[in-house]
Amino acid sequence: MKIYPSLLAAPVFEIYSAVQDLDPSVPGYHIDIMDNHFVPNIGFNLDFVHALDKITSKPLWLHLMVTDPLSLIERLKVSRPCLISIHIEAPCNHTYVLHEIKTQGHIPSLALNPQTQVDLVYPFGRSVNNVLIMGVNPGFSGQEFIPETIDKLSTLSNWKYQNNFDCSLAVDGGVNPHHFKDLMLAGAHICVVGSALFNHAPFGPTYCNFIEKLRRS
Ligand code: DX5
Ligand code: ZN
Repeated sequence: MKIYPSLLAAPVFEIYSAVQDLDPSVPGYHIDIMDNHFVPNIGFNLDFVHALDKITSKPLWLHLMVTDPLSLIERLKVSRPCLISIHIEAPCNHTYVLHEIKTQGHIPSLALNPQTQVDLVYPFGRSVNNVLIMGVNPGFSGQEFIPETIDKLSTLSNWKYQNNFDCSLAVDGGVNPHHFKDLMLAGAHICVVGSALFNHAPFGPTYCNFIEKLRRS
């Protein structure tokens, strides 16, 4: 299973050194972008993404917790394809936005909130490369994992295999090493880990050791 660090949980003044430390050990970085409207918080913005684009060559994964994802996608200027998650609950034309993500050379993903029924994702099986299942209500790091997420993941995993859809399944929010086995058994390919990494690993060149430990747990 791939483990993506969620930089929202990283100590803000140490993000640069955290990225330098993590770079050899992670498949990429999960970046939470918020608008204080779709969720009651502000995360990173495009300036941060553009700056990160200059200091790492690892894949960037933009998790857009915003009402209007299209305007961000149109202003995104990065040197590589990014995985871009838009929320199914966002009041936008999902078919069009997912198509735009592809047209701009990026990789489309749909995210769904804990209260959202999985069948809303079904029509998009051939339009997305990833489904991001939220394990917490979006907006903040450090919340408790909602256990029902596992059942949702199993349902989506069956759906994916029954229909032969080419999309990975990811879980974001509240994930800690105790959940890894259950998530893997339920069909997760990717976990996003924020506070379980940044709050518990001693800071410094140990983040990468901690990621290795997580991967083995
Ligand atoms: C929550 C964010 C997550 C969060 C993960 O809205 O989308 O990416 O930062 O952090 P933890 O693992 O602490 O829940
Ligand atoms: Zn996220």
